[in-house]
Amino acid sequence: MSKGFSNSSVGRKILMALSGFFLLIFLVQHLVINLISVVSADGFNEVSEFFGTNPVIQYLLQPVLFFGIIFHLIMGMYLDVKNKAARPIKYAMNKPSENASWVSRNMIITGVMVLLFLALHMVHFFFPTINAHYITHEHLDSFEMVASKMANPVYIGIYVAAFVFLGLHLMHGFQSAFQSVGVNHPKYSPIIKKLGTAYAIIVPLGYIFVAVYHYACSFCS
Ligand code: HEM
Repeated sequence: MSKGFSNSSVGRKILMALSGFFLLIFLVQHLVINLISVVSADGFNEVSEFFGTNPVIQYLLQPVLFFGIIFHLIMGMYLDVKNKAARPIKYAMNKPSENASWVSRNMIITGVMVLLFLALHMVHFFFPTINAHYITHEHLDSFEMVASKMANPVYIGIYVAAFVFLGLHLMHGFQSAFQSVGVNHPKYSPIIKKLGTAYAIIVPLGYIFVAVYHYACSFCS
């Protein structure tokens, strides 16, 4: 990729959209794995073991994922600062509701809320997994790890709130990514908008379902 492309504002928007597409795919993949924990503890442990030990995932896909998250975050903040600087009059003085929706104007807020969740999430699940695989070399019961964390009502509250912010972020982000890569068509754009709304509702609801399911199950035994 030429330096001129990544340095141009169109190029940056396209790169931002591509990292967004990548994260949209990750979110579905992660949800499918999490849903396995609802149907089978052993199945979930087997899939987690595979994802935690497969060299292609460990040494290629996982670093790409973390790079994608950090890139999306830094580029998102950069573009937001540039957009605000380019705007002559502040939205507040300009009847914001007529310019853009709350979600589209507050992508940074919803994005940062998801980021804060991710920090807690890494402490809960990712670091213990890395610790078990590389440092203590102990067998890790991934299902037990999820079930025990999800038994805590405070965590459930934080997780559910984060998934609502994730939904708000996706509500604008999904269609915005298509626009950034040049898909702006009178016939297809309304379909993409509907697909984006469906994605932004169904995927976070799926995560909420998994979290609440494990919380409810903590009362079962
Ligand atoms: C109920 C909801 C969720 C549960 C139970 C859950 C569970 C887990 C578990 C068990 C791991 C460790 C996987 C391993 O390395 O073996 C993990 C990793 C991770 N999760 Fe989640 N997760 C949830 C929601 C989310 C959401 C909404 C996001 C993104 C916004 C997310 C992002 C990540 C990332 C980036 C990793 C580290 C990379 C990886 O191991 O795949 N998670 N999660």
